[in-house]
Amino acid sequence: MSQAIQIKQFGGPEVLELVDVAVGEPGPGEIRIRHHAVGLNFIDVYQRTGLYPNALPLNLGMEGAGVVEAVGTGVTHLKAGDRAAYASNPPGSYSQARVMPAKCVVRLPDDIPFDTAAAMMLKGLTAQYLLKKTQPQGGLQPGDHVLWHAAAGGVGLIACQWAKAMGLQLIATAGSDAKCALALEHGAAHAINYRTQTFVDEVKKITGGAGVKVVYDSVGKDTFEGSLDVLRPFGLLASFGNASGPVPPFAPGILGPKGSLYVTRATLFTHIATREATQAMAEDLFAVVQSGAVKIRIDQRYPLAEVAKAHRELEARKTTGSSVLLP
Ligand SMILES: NC(=O)c1ccc[n+]([C@@H]2O[C@H](COP(=O)([O-])OP(=O)(O)OC[C@H]3O[C@@H](n4cnc5c(N)ncnc54)[C@H](OP(=O)(O)O)[C@@H]3O)[C@@H](O)[C@H]2O)c1
Repeated sequence: MSQAIQIKQFGGPEVLELVDVAVGEPGPGEIRIRHHAVGLNFIDVYQRTGLYPNALPLNLGMEGAGVVEAVGTGVTHLKAGDRAAYASNPPGSYSQARVMPAKCVVRLPDDIPFDTAAAMMLKGLTAQYLLKKTQPQGGLQPGDHVLWHAAAGGVGLIACQWAKAMGLQLIATAGSDAKCALALEHGAAHAINYRTQTFVDEVKKITGGAGVKVVYDSVGKDTFEGSLDVLRPFGLLASFGNASGPVPPFAPGILGPKGSLYVTRATLFTHIATREATQAMAEDLFAVVQSGAVKIRIDQRYPLAEVAKAHRELEARKTTGSSVLLP
């Protein structure tokens, strides 16, 4: 048996229930893992509210780290006793132990603690594919300006540091002066408080009117239009989240006069569709963390049973950096 967080209906944090669930033996291509730490992500909120629908009842959670207890037939890259970590579908990481597909689970280097791993797999692999694999026309070169919204959050603080390591001039937006200071401390070249300043005007000032090559936008509804307005000709809007609500439908025709812009709606799960791709991306993430260029900042820790508090704080924009749940 394992304690797990389950929802039986979509709704607010009050639908999160601590339940006991049976954990069986892993089938072909599966492992059983005992979690030492579990990551909290905004996607968990979308799944809880039903914005991203799943069948009910649903055990939540997409990220975790722990020790492999058993492996099913056909699993060759992991064995019982291995330290391991993952960002993976299907949900279910908000638990003490679970059976899950092995495909997206990777061995964890000994020098990366479990809580750090749980705080960085989903967020760090997302920063990886956005900065390295979601490219504007002609690619990104050192010195290029990019804009990253909500840069003091979990994905954001990893991106600030990684972008700096790549030589990019990352312009951060964040919802308070304290969050802006945090983004600057973590490698952002500039920071804009988008609750007190108009980010479109500020980005134009910083770039001398030229605009940025890429906007990484996980805020969604509130920032979408402004994000298009700060792009250089042929610039790329990488939309990857909906913290303020989903982007409403728009006519592609608006992209022409704004400078023949590109828009993509990206998701990690396309990038980690195969074991080989997951492993390669994870190795890149482990290397940048082991080098010290990217430090994983855990600003909130909650017992698993206090997951509703964790969701409330994440949705109220009270968190910075990563949050972990301790089972
Ligand atoms: N597509 C993908 O592959 C993928 C993968 C991972 C994450 N994501 C997305 O990336 C974003 C960041 O994820 P995260 O887990 O690291 O969360 P997070 O950034 O730690 O938290 C979300 C942040 O969004 C900002 N925000 C702006 N408007 C908001 C609003 N109306 N309500 C709540 N927050 C608002 C807040 O920062 P400020 O106060 O600074 O505005 C808040 O702290 C999320 O949108 C998530 O869905 C997408």
